[in-house]
Amino acid sequence: MATNRTFTMLKPDSVEKGYIGAILEKINATGFRIVAMKMTQMTVADAKEFYAIHSERPFFGELVEYMTRGPIIAAVLEKENAVEDFRALIGATNPAEAAEGTIRKMYAASMGENAVHGSDSDENAAIESAFHFSGREMF
Ligand code: RTP
Ligand code: MG
Repeated sequence: MATNRTFTMLKPDSVEKGYIGAILEKINATGFRIVAMKMTQMTVADAKEFYAIHSERPFFGELVEYMTRGPIIAAVLEKENAVEDFRALIGATNPAEAAEGTIRKMYAASMGENAVHGSDSDENAAIESAFHFSGREMF
């Protein structure tokens, strides 16, 4: 995958609260092109695999429960410097520490329920995109 792509999920809290439209508008307004997108629900096995890097952390059980409790919007986004620029757009993991105007500052409730995921490297963007989408689903 080209290194100008990143992967995102609008997490279950964003879908539950009706924030899909507002968050997508912000993503578009920041210049990201939507390469792939779908509504889907992760199984427990999916969430454990997706967040395997955190499996030893004390919050892992809560994280898996949260990420599987309802549907998400999964998407692949394209823009120059996509990974870094998208992390800047979403803000710090803890919304209390997120900068003004970031998605987490505006739409996240807490560190545990923080509205949106963004890949942390080009390598993980490719792995995470392939986790949710086949080549035929990316445009
Ligand atoms: P993400 O992977 O979802 O984009 O979030 P991130 O890089 O900003 O944060 P990361 O350290 O990768 O943590 C993954 C997700 O686990 C939950 N978390 N809860 N209660 C806690 O202390 C805690 N710490 C992390 C969050 O949902 C976080 O986004
Ligand atoms: Mg992360």
